[in-house]
Amino acid sequence: MKTRWAVLGSAGIARRRTIPEGIAKADNAELAAVFDVDASANAAVAAEFGARACASEDELLAADADVVYVATPAWLHHGQVLRAAAAGRHVFCEKPLGMTVAQGEAMVAACAKAGVKLGVGLMMRFHAQHRAALELVQSARLGVPVFARAQLSCWYPPIAGAWRQDPALGGGGSLMDLGGHCIDLLEMFFGPVAAVRCETARLVQAYDSEDTAVVLFDFACGAKGAVDCLFNVPDAASRNRLELYGSLGSILAEGTIGQGEAGRMEALLEAAPGDYAAAQVRAAAGGLEIAPPPVNTYRAEVEAFSRAVQENTPPPVPGEDGLWSQKVLAACYESARTGVKVVVR
Ligand SMILES: NC(=O)c1ccc[n+]([C@@H]2O[C@H](COP(=O)([O-])OP(=O)(O)OC[C@H]3O[C@@H](n4cnc5c(N)ncnc54)[C@H](O)[C@@H]3O)[C@@H](O)[C@H]2O)c1
Repeated sequence: MKTRWAVLGSAGIARRRTIPEGIAKADNAELAAVFDVDASANAAVAAEFGARACASEDELLAADADVVYVATPAWLHHGQVLRAAAAGRHVFCEKPLGMTVAQGEAMVAACAKAGVKLGVGLMMRFHAQHRAALELVQSARLGVPVFARAQLSCWYPPIAGAWRQDPALGGGGSLMDLGGHCIDLLEMFFGPVAAVRCETARLVQAYDSEDTAVVLFDFACGAKGAVDCLFNVPDAASRNRLELYGSLGSILAEGTIGQGEAGRMEALLEAAPGDYAAAQVRAAAGGLEIAPPPVNTYRAEVEAFSRAVQENTPPPVPGEDGLWSQKVLAACYESARTGVKVVVR
């Protein structure tokens, strides 16, 4: 059985990744209908993937589909998710869930009231190397978790009309757009964040959203974390590092964070806490390469949400997780504004 997906905003990330790599390739999903305000791009997507091209959001919401995938700019998510839920469709919403915590709460409540599932596109959780690292963390191979870092940066110059460059349309810049993925991923490994300290800045790019964001945080488990997200360094300058440290070693990765299927990851683990080595002699290499068969994260998130619909089970990344991410991000912006550490509630 195939879950039928209808896509709102078919010509952005949906066209670049989620339709061709996810919905079209998934074993248990198919593309039913698409709508985008860019009618010609919408028609092209519909023709290429054999879906119905709708002329309006209303037409899409009335189409024969199980799931509405909301892949529009962030400022549109709230209204579109509410309308999709009212139309009785399960909803899969791109991150960030909404623009504010209040919007996120309303979206979660509306889907619960309508009796439909709400999932969020935090697809980096499905990355095969991240799952392998999670197994190591969960089996205590890292020992006591002490520090986690995630980095995601790119070059994002001013572009006329770009919604991410206006906080009123994107909810923020590099923190909202990239930081949400990074923090959510670190929480998958070390559990929820308890408090954040954040600095944002506009250092290079001539737009209103921040192009620089640095977050330091405390996990509830006691470990410390750091996330840095920049819109102002060349793409090749950032290795998009993931680093997890515990009392028994580390898991270090480059290039696993992002849209691709595989990066480089190694684990440097000891079987037991070592004696203090005054000379600090370190093995030159000796890491364990972590390279499971790659998984396409877009296909994985589509299949997982479709399965939840078919089997009537909770979505793997539920709306509540998107709401929590929104709360963490709001705390980050509050800290950046006030200069103090903010507890996440
Ligand atoms: N998970 C990921 O890997 C990932 C990557 C990129 C973007 N995203 C998220 O996806 C969402 C869209 O980002 P994007 O990069 O695709 O943006 P985009 O601007 O490239 O594409 C958005 C699309 O929505 C269309 N649109 C605008 N208003 C609309 C409306 N009222 N109804 C229907 N369509 C409308 C636009 O014409 C455009 O085709 C954002 O929430 C973003 O954060 C996620």
